[in-house]
Amino acid sequence: MRVLLYTGKGGVGKTSLAVASALGAATHGHRVFVLSTDSAHSLGDALGRSVGPEPIQVADRVVAQEVAALHELDRGWSEIQAWLQELVKGSSRERVDAVVAEELLVFPGLEELVALRAIRVVEATGEYDVCVVDCAPTGSTLRMLRLPDVMRFFMDNFFDVKRKAFRVLKPVADRIGLGHLVAPDKVFAAFERLYEDIEDVRQILLDTDRTSARLVVNPARVVVAETRRSFAYLSLYGVATDAVIVNRILPDEATRGYFARWADRERHELDEIASSFPIPRFQAPLLPREPIGVDALLELSQSVFGDRDPAELFTRSRPIRFEKRGDRTVLEIDLPGARKHELEVIPRGDELLVVVRDAQRRISLPASVAGRAIEEARLSKGVLSITFGP
Ligand SMILES: Nc1ncnc2c1ncn2[C@@H]1O[C@H](COP(=O)(O)OP(=O)(O)O)[C@@H](O)[C@H]1O
Ligand SMILES: [Mg+2]
Repeated sequence: MRVLLYTGKGGVGKTSLAVASALGAATHGHRVFVLSTDSAHSLGDALGRSVGPEPIQVADRVVAQEVAALHELDRGWSEIQAWLQELVKGSSRERVDAVVAEELLVFPGLEELVALRAIRVVEATGEYDVCVVDCAPTGSTLRMLRLPDVMRFFMDNFFDVKRKAFRVLKPVADRIGLGHLVAPDKVFAAFERLYEDIEDVRQILLDTDRTSARLVVNPARVVVAETRRSFAYLSLYGVATDAVIVNRILPDEATRGYFARWADRERHELDEIASSFPIPRFQAPLLPREPIGVDALLELSQSVFGDRDPAELFTRSRPIRFEKRGDRTVLEIDLPGARKHELEVIPRGDELLVVVRDAQRRISLPASVAGRAIEEARLSKGVLSITFGP
């Protein structure tokens, strides 16, 4: 099953284009499921009818659902949270590091990732060829993509799998004032279950043969700047982006008079987009009215994709890859638009921590490379190449 993640800054047209693409894909014969994981659900607004937490058919071969994330966060999670809360509360309060405590309790991105478990349910039915996901604005989608790392860190550092106990490492323990605490079995089991679910979802998201992100952008400076950063972050987290869709382009007849300056600015931003996103680009005009309802959205899909199938894999890429070069191994990471001074590469045993501005990713190194010295780290043409010695 193909998975398409529509993401972008708030208000750029993610929902409209996600639903439009779903409807368009169905006209190419695909059986399509549209899923909204944005807690501000608006599939219903775009379709002009109500869509709820139960799957509902909205057109031929198209079913839609607005996933209720909090609902999905089953009782297991409330047990974990209640226990963690006790744990933090029970420790000497003044020593609790607020940030650590918050990461423990909130797990930023958890809600959306949990909502994404719905992808597995859709896939398990065997009834759909395409799953289109209307994601939350990019910021929270990126937090979600970082979450498996946070969870893994948590598992590695706080979990003693053999003893089924939470363990707190010395430096962290000192910071938050926790000792070695045994979790009740059911809490431990719930946490393990959640962790496994999240790993499953992550495997789907990182499968570049079937999952693609689609960045929706408007030809406006602030939007372009943010989307450019998101593009690099998605790549850092291993998610392949196969297209950028520029929405709300002023049509020719609107570029005179009052809007002439807007049109000028827009041309400049379109050039920016062309040079910042070396991937297939699609365009949608600013329509004379909001595209609401199946007919209007199908028309939108037609104007964006023409006769092409919106579910196509428009470009194949693997944002993170290991390559053998003679007796050396090179790790390449696509980081479009990143600058040298914003990058940091920190080896940590069998992992590599890669930091890009305020985003970071822990990349597991294959056994053949773990522990080897890094000979060179180089950023060239948007690709970070890290060479491991023989
Ligand atoms: N190409 C377009 N022309 C005119 N209005 C649009 C276009 N694309 C989206 N809209 C309208 O813009 C608003 C925001 O779109 P929406 O798809 O909800 O954005 P997002 O999901 O990114 O917040 C909606 O009212 C929608 O109908
Ligand atoms: Mg939306």
